[in-house]
Amino acid sequence: MKFRLSIALCILAAFFFGTAFAGPAQQSSPQDARRMPTGDSVVPDTVSQALLERGEKLYVRRCGGCHSLDRNRTGPRHRGVYGRKAGSVADFRYSKALQLLNLIWTAETLDRWLENPAAVARGTSMGFRLGKADERKAVIAYLKSLSDTAERQGKN
Ligand code: HEC
Repeated sequence: MKFRLSIALCILAAFFFGTAFAGPAQQSSPQDARRMPTGDSVVPDTVSQALLERGEKLYVRRCGGCHSLDRNRTGPRHRGVYGRKAGSVADFRYSKALQLLNLIWTAETLDRWLENPAAVARGTSMGFRLGKADERKAVIAYLKSLSDTAERQGKN
């Protein structure tokens, strides 16, 4: 009896593992190869809705004076900034410092940037700092979620 039970469990386990591994493999497309870097220590891959909502509010309040998601203003537009190369919005006039900055915007680089832009790119024209680490985390999680959505939409 015990023996039969363990065989049944093995079959069940094999089934679950099989589907778990087969799932992503079937969906993989060429785009998966250039997935943006994840696993940052600043913002985990899965975040709560509450953090995203806080991030959005902070973004509007603290960044909205100079930035918007879809239009260049004093600063460049932000949709898709997470995972993008610094200084790469084609129709925005960046400072020399940003043009020369060879960096991809990840949670870690964004965190350093928002803490002190001039320390990342000396001579940048962004004269604004977000001093509180938890506020930076929320804003970055929000920006990241916008890039995630853009990536998903690109696949359909
Ligand atoms: C006082 C205006 C101002 C505020 C407020 C401001 N920024 Fe900026 N931001 C700029 C300017 C100007 C640039 C372009 C910098 C350059 O060219 O040197 C910039 C550039 C950036 C970049 C680089 C984008 C790219 O395409 O490489 C990021 C990221 C960024 N800002 C994020 C933020 C976030 C997030 C906030 C809010 C927490 C914020 N900024 C608040 C003015 C501002």
